Amino acid sequence: MTRITYSLEFMQISLTGIHNEPRLPATAAEMPISAVEGINVAVIGGGLMGHAIAGLHAAAGAQVTVLESDAESRRSMHGRIHASFTPLGSADRAVANTSVTSDSGRALSGSHIVIEAAVEKIAVKNDLVRLASRFAPESIFATNTSAIRISDIAESHANPELVVGTHYFNPPHLIPLVEVVPGQRTSPNTVQKIAAYLRLIDKIPAVLSSDPPGFVANRIQHAMWREALALLEAGVADAETIDLIVRNSFGPRLTVMGPIENADYVGLDLTESIHSYLFPHLSSTTSPSAEVLNAVARGKLGRKTGQGITTWTEQRAQQATERLASHLITTFSSRKG
Ligand SMILES: NC(=O)c1ccc[n+]([C@@H]2O[C@H](COP(=O)([O-])OP(=O)(O)OC[C@H]3O[C@@H](n4cnc5c(N)ncnc54)[C@H](O)[C@@H]3O)[C@@H](O)[C@H]2O)c1
Repeated sequence: MTRITYSLEFMQISLTGIHNEPRLPATAAEMPISAVEGINVAVIGGGLMGHAIAGLHAAAGAQVTVLESDAESRRSMHGRIHASFTPLGSADRAVANTSVTSDSGRALSGSHIVIEAAVEKIAVKNDLVRLASRFAPESIFATNTSAIRISDIAESHANPELVVGTHYFNPPHLIPLVEVVPGQRTSPNTVQKIAAYLRLIDKIPAVLSSDPPGFVANRIQHAMWREALALLEAGVADAETIDLIVRNSFGPRLTVMGPIENADYVGLDLTESIHSYLFPHLSSTTSPSAEVLNAVARGKLGRKTGQGITTWTEQRAQQATERLASHLITTFSSRKG
């Protein structure tokens, strides 16, 4: 059975006609920066984020190899890429420029950039840094970690100056911004190079100066989630009502006015009054909410298991994916750079 799966997989790879031969070693120094064509990218982990990150680089013209340890994920990779890129009209190109393999050497050797999008566990990321350090020691190692400090991930690399955070947002092919996060030992050259490359593939790199856990976006985002879950736990409103309020009050405003401009816009005197009164009442818990801890302990993980804080049918999951994609495509369709 295993042998059949493998042979089908290789048939699929050879049908797409992409770099079945091992590639020559590549280095970040040799990476072309004027055109995407000619750039080889390896993506480690082809799950929710990795398949779409692979597809967006491939759709832009890079040759992408996904290193995926799970056989079912490898088998479904091209189908998932195709489905994600169909609304953008670039599904065929995204699939054609992507190969999938479980062979580390084949995936990593010859890649100018290695993008790590495996699970959010530091031990796994450190193993993968060591793997990349072995097969692609002179290439940029760009981790898609959501929150782990880049400095902690870079420790295991032979050349930590080449390790950088490139934090994409789900769905990464529809959200243009990528946080570019330097660790303590990341070189300015690596940061400039990856930012230039991201612009080339039509992403908006937002370059940070340091790597606090959670960087910028997830610190702000999860401060809000902590408060939303605290309100739910306190019984102030039910889940639907809390989400309804966020989506229809300050939520829509955030795409045109960020919190700091907004504070200035309404007046810092008002901001000071609200913060002086309100901050002592906001959640400052340092552990996940009981609601989340209990659900996870009972295997209720949300959409992927059909039950989380709310109930998920297949139909609801499909509609949520389509609603999100359609909204993001409309929001960013008129974007110029
Ligand atoms: N899901 C999000 O919204 C989101 C957003 C931004 C960043 N991230 C980050 O991106 C990373 C991936 O998240 P995800 O949601 O795509 O996870 P996921 O579980 O959907 O995918 C992870 C994939 O990595 C594969 N994998 C695990 N170990 C591997 C290994 N040693 N070698 C090769 N493949 C391996 C798994 O088989 C799986 O397919 C995490 O670090 C996460 O924090 C996630």
